[in-house]
Amino acid sequence: YPSNLQMEESSGLKQAMCRAKGGAPGFKVAILGAAGGIGQPLAMLMKMNPLVSVLHLYDVVNAPGVTADLSHMDTGAVVRGFLGQPQLESALTGMDLVIIPAGVPRKPGMTRDDLFNINAGIVRTLCEGIAKCCPNAIVNLISNPVNSTVPIAAEVFKKAATYDPKRLLGVTMLDVVRANTFVAEVLGLDPREVDVPVVGGHAGVTILPLLSQVKPPCSFTPQETEYLTNRIQNGGTEVVEAKAGTGSATLSMAYAAVKFADACLRGLRGDAGVVECAFVASQVTELPFFASKVRLGRIGAEEVFQLGPLNEYERIGLEKAKKELAGSIQKGVSFIKK
Ligand code: NAD
Ligand code: LMR
Repeated sequence: YPSNLQMEESSGLKQAMCRAKGGAPGFKVAILGAAGGIGQPLAMLMKMNPLVSVLHLYDVVNAPGVTADLSHMDTGAVVRGFLGQPQLESALTGMDLVIIPAGVPRKPGMTRDDLFNINAGIVRTLCEGIAKCCPNAIVNLISNPVNSTVPIAAEVFKKAATYDPKRLLGVTMLDVVRANTFVAEVLGLDPREVDVPVVGGHAGVTILPLLSQVKPPCSFTPQETEYLTNRIQNGGTEVVEAKAGTGSATLSMAYAAVKFADACLRGLRGDAGVVECAFVASQVTELPFFASKVRLGRIGAEEVFQLGPLNEYERIGLEKAKKELAGSIQKGVSFIKK
């Protein structure tokens, strides 16, 4: 009898051949940090995504268990597990999209920047692997502090001469998901009908919801604007405090990450008009990185949209956001340059 591994390999190969015959689109996706609080539900949701043909799950712990578990789901994607640094290159080779939720989460009383010392090094190592093994992959970076880890990734790719700003996207989708939910509550609408652009970055005052641009068009009292802005900016802290030391948002983040990854894959497939907010290299402000709406296409963030008209409240918020963002970006850049 063949070993379990041989059986998995051979059934994976047969499945892949079946899909190739049917001509179904299938992308190869790796999740780095796949055994974590975000990684596991994210891996499950990606295993259910019909655009994914191969799913590589990499972590420094527990990757084989998560892989065995998910591999029994009767969905199309073939799942393979990779454990520890020696298997990083195999995990990354040939990938179209790499999603990174690896790193430590916050505990109550911490800022996202307090995670820098541990997560900066993790992101650097993983991005060095990407530069070597799949330099053309789209990268979705979730690990905090996003305002610094995206500049870190950019510097790693620059050093390796593989940097393409269109392919590096910091994931700020959870801010949009929260904004849609909280705004819908205030308006008495179904959150699926609401679209709130959230720009800037992914920490405190750098998270800037543009409530004047909500769709469907609506207006808010000054009190509602203040309440919504504060709640959206502190959504992560709300979850960290409710979890009381056991971690930060994982389930809503996995949902948001899949929503964003799916948009990236639809863009890669060539779908027209795929637009989402993300933290990317940008010329929208004087800062080198900024979150705003981007159009996702075959080569990543093909177009970065301007912010559009802002009201007085948002203009003040923008100045505060830019001040904090400038320091966080510089901190990330210096980490690699030094
Ligand atoms: P977690 O501790 O539950 O999981 C992290 C996983 O990363 C663990 O399985 C761990 O083994 C793995 N890991 C650690 N070092 C690694 C390495 N060198 N290579 C590969 N994997 C490694 O944490 P979590 O709750 O899943 O959060 C992960 C990160 O995502 C945190 O930094 C958190 O702040 C961030 N986060 C970001 C957003 C966002 O909106 N961008 C939202 C929520 C959480
Ligand atoms: C979030 O917004 O939920 C994440 O950035 C995690 C955190 O630390 O708040």
